[in-house]
Amino acid sequence: MDYHHTLQNASGHLAEAAREQAMEENEGEYLVVVDGSIPLANEGYSTIAGISNLQMFQETAEHAKAIIAVGSCATFGGIPGANPNPTGAVAIDEIITDKPVINLPGCPPIPEVMTGTVAYLLSFAGIPELDHLGRPKAFFGEAIHDRCYRRPFYEKGQFAKSFDDEGARQGWCLYEVGCKGPVTYNACATLKWNGGVSFPIQSGHGCLGCSEPGFWDLGGFYKPLSTAKDDALKYAAGAAAVGAVAGVAASAMVRNKRNKVLKAAAAASTTEEETT
Ligand code: SF4
Ligand code: F3S
Repeated sequence: MDYHHTLQNASGHLAEAAREQAMEENEGEYLVVVDGSIPLANEGYSTIAGISNLQMFQETAEHAKAIIAVGSCATFGGIPGANPNPTGAVAIDEIITDKPVINLPGCPPIPEVMTGTVAYLLSFAGIPELDHLGRPKAFFGEAIHDRCYRRPFYEKGQFAKSFDDEGARQGWCLYEVGCKGPVTYNACATLKWNGGVSFPIQSGHGCLGCSEPGFWDLGGFYKPLSTAKDDALKYAAGAAAVGAVAGVAASAMVRNKRNKVLKAAAAASTTEEETT
């Protein structure tokens, strides 16, 4: 790893020199791993080394072999991109469209998913097989629900009705207290967290759907999918088997919103230039 603005020893000009040197020596071969969304409404909202995140990203991505977007902000806009998105935050694949972008969403993303993806890219010539949202199928190919150890309770209709009721204490299914596991694709139920210790559902809290687009804006964290009022969740409530449809619907919603922000930012920039 040649450059990481919090882990590297170097700082200031030396750090930037390391980035430039790494890019030059590995042109066309290096990987760029990005976390965080990019603010477009005003590029000055976030800067590193005196340049905007947008400028640094475009510069660094230009001669990269592939981009890995880690976390729900980099992949789908995340919390900064949530309505009303005051900074005009966009996902990485909204900016770079001419090279492979591998999306590893999660709030936060699972460490083994990140290292596993980097290991794949270092070990094999190509890009891992991706789903319709650019996520590696090896980690995002199955819904949490499909691997959840509480699934037998779901099948038997045994649901916790509130947190800490008798059902919850018995470890019953958390669907009725808002679990989005049936429409959420991630590896939490198999890889788990903290070296395999646990994951949200195992600690007694339903899955919030943090690896799906726009999960902050879908509302109803504690509402069952079947009673959700939000349109995107209604799609999701249709059936676990068509969970991908929810992803597509939410993704389209998020992307439409982002496109409006991009247009507004471009218009604002043109007006500013004209005024100048
Ligand atoms: Fe597990 Fe949630 Fe599915 Fe219930 S609804 S089986 S808690 S993933
Ligand atoms: Fe996120 Fe659900 Fe896993 S909330 S951490 S995808 S269990």
